Amino acid sequence: MVREGSAGLITNVSQSCCNLISNDFRLTVTSERTAEEKEHASRVRAMFAGISGRYDLLNHLLSANMDKRWRRLVALELKKQLPLKAQVLDIACGTGDLALTLFEQTEARVYGADFCRPMLQIASAKAGQREASIPFIEADALTLPFPDGSFDGATIAFGLRNLANVEGGLAEILRILKPGGQVAILEFSEPKVPGFSSGFRWYFRRVLPLLGGAISGSRSAYTYLPDSVSRFPNQEKLASMISEAGFEKVRYLNLTGGVAALHLGTRPERSS
Ligand SMILES: C[S@@+](CC[C@H](N)C(=O)[O-])C[C@H]1O[C@@H](n2cnc3c(N)ncnc32)[C@H](O)[C@@H]1O
Repeated sequence: MVREGSAGLITNVSQSCCNLISNDFRLTVTSERTAEEKEHASRVRAMFAGISGRYDLLNHLLSANMDKRWRRLVALELKKQLPLKAQVLDIACGTGDLALTLFEQTEARVYGADFCRPMLQIASAKAGQREASIPFIEADALTLPFPDGSFDGATIAFGLRNLANVEGGLAEILRILKPGGQVAILEFSEPKVPGFSSGFRWYFRRVLPLLGGAISGSRSAYTYLPDSVSRFPNQEKLASMISEAGFEKVRYLNLTGGVAALHLGTRPERSS
């Protein structure tokens, strides 16, 4: 069932309607799985809704603009692997910076998906300003509204760590990729350069929550950031998890001494 909302948004789009969408902004009803996942999802969604207005400013400020370079690298690495006329889904796209970078740096048709509407509204406005035709879809990364094998590429930047079920998220990415399709995962990781690592940890755990809290008005969101990173698997463990999820040719690049890592993998041509 498709319904035009008052702001020109489309709500209640059925799963099949979400295949190869051409409108600018489509919304789907999400169906989370367990009660625990549902509770986690609503906390994460509310947290990002609360900081959405300051999210971009803080990203660039707190990372000294490194986040822009990291996203460009994601686009460059993915581009090497994509076929002509590729379709790429940026999952947990937030305010759309990676989707926009993919749109500008590759020839692919790019889609963005996120379950936080205020983040998507900013993404949609930015795409409009930059005349980038990117459909943004409101959807949960654990239950994406696309048939199996829909995309040549999938990206997720600083999103995997926020999922209630990381293995479930990886399985969902594998499912929506075509055989031979590529995944690129950008996430904070474990700094590997002695000296720099301890300085960075001090900044990340002590300075960032204070600065982020003061500017965003949400101290908890910027305490959650280092906490969730410390609970998240480091680069080696994440590479193993991606392989265990069924991807092949899994490899990673450390960015800025391992502060972040870009993991790449391929959906096998034949499933085993
Ligand atoms: C740290 S932001 C990253 C946004 C963007 N990818 C970037 O690089 O700036 C994390 C995003 O993940 C989204 N997110 C978290 N869990 C999600 C889920 N289960 N399904 C869809 N989006 C999710 C949040 O709404 C938020 O926009």
